[in-house]
Amino acid sequence: MSAHQKLYEGKAKIIYSTDEPEVLLANFKDDATAFNAKKRGTIAGKGEINCKIAAHLFQMLEANGIPTHFIDCPAPNQMRVRAVRIVPLEVVVRNIAAGSLCQQTGLEVGTVLKPPLVEFYYKNDELGDPLLTRDRLLLMSLATPEQLEQLQTMALRINEILKEFFHKCGITLVDFKLEFGLDQQQHMLLADEISPDTCRLWNDSESDPDRRVMDKDRFRRDLGQVEDAYQQVLERVLATTGNVVGG
Ligand code: TMP
Repeated sequence: MSAHQKLYEGKAKIIYSTDEPEVLLANFKDDATAFNAKKRGTIAGKGEINCKIAAHLFQMLEANGIPTHFIDCPAPNQMRVRAVRIVPLEVVVRNIAAGSLCQQTGLEVGTVLKPPLVEFYYKNDELGDPLLTRDRLLLMSLATPEQLEQLQTMALRINEILKEFFHKCGITLVDFKLEFGLDQQQHMLLADEISPDTCRLWNDSESDPDRRVMDKDRFRRDLGQVEDAYQQVLERVLATTGNVVGG
């Protein structure tokens, strides 16, 4: 395969090959979509902001023992990553009830979830990324029972590390989505991105339910000042170091 060939274009990133077969280049876009791309827009500077936030978080997670696909950033909106075969699951961890959990269960927004909830969604745009049961997931061979256990353990550990880190940033980590992939040695790596596109982040110094939102809900719900919120997350993330936490 020739170098720098476009391999895949997703809603938020374009993936290119490089001259190293085990390395891919992810180009973060300013495009924003919501509700399975029924809503489309642009968030100025988002590509760079999300790339920088994701790079910082991946490095912090690596330092805390989580293997990720991150290598480095050759440009502000570009990330070199290890090539992986993506597991077609969106792993969502929830610390506080919000979003689809409230819509589907009637739980009140803000309900604290102890222990955190881990959910698996089928990564399939045509089907609208449906919520899976563990039995359905195994029936569909989307992961082996061992991989499912591994994903659950990794997701909860990542949650502990991120929750503590964001707390130091003055931000409450409400919920987030992770994707994982297998490298050529079949090691499970954290992949995709972690950013205000893929997390719900609430500003601890705001009590108003709309003003506190620092994530893509500002775009989904037309709350305005989307760029400012993303920039604010970046500034706080860069100003905070993530030390190893217990557990
Ligand atoms: P949800 O409440 O809409 O199910 O979202 C849960 C979390 O997952 C939230 O932090 C946003 C994130 N998410 C994505 O990253 N991509 C998606 O396609 C969806 C639906 C949610």
